[in-house]
Amino acid sequence: MFDGTPTGGTKPAAYRELLSALDGLTAGEPDAVANLANAAALIWQWLPDLNWAGFYRLIGDELVLGPFQGKPACIRIAMGAGVCGTAAATRATQVVPDVHAFPGHIACDGASRSELVVPLVAGDRLLGVLDLDSPAPGRFDAEDARGCEALAALLAARIG
Ligand code: SME
Repeated sequence: MFDGTPTGGTKPAAYRELLSALDGLTAGEPDAVANLANAAALIWQWLPDLNWAGFYRLIGDELVLGPFQGKPACIRIAMGAGVCGTAAATRATQVVPDVHAFPGHIACDGASRSELVVPLVAGDRLLGVLDLDSPAPGRFDAEDARGCEALAALLAARIG
């Protein structure tokens, strides 16, 4: 069991604590689904103002729903489609302050107003994406992007 929450301080400091917690939670465990499931639960527990937190895994040529917290979501997303497919196709983090202004955004939960999607890449292989949704407009900034990129890099190394 992991029952921690951030001890306060700056957002980068909170992400460093989260990274350390994720490291401890996944160390020595080779199963990808187990690690992604615990990562989704930890992020959900740790970060405020989320209505969805989880993963899509690249299987074949499409993204397939993986472990998550939040409401049931779209199962398959084509490369290049929506925010997740764009992050996967470009291998670039997507910070979307207003999902309604993002062309092709896929509405899984009508409550979502902003979104952050980070690709999971191990070496030159795309493994999937980390997807966070918030009911608050403009919830995610560059510090969230950098913090989640560090989480994604750790996970990709663990499950790749
Ligand atoms: N909004 C995403 C789809 C996934 S859900 O948010 C969980 C997108 O546009 O790719």
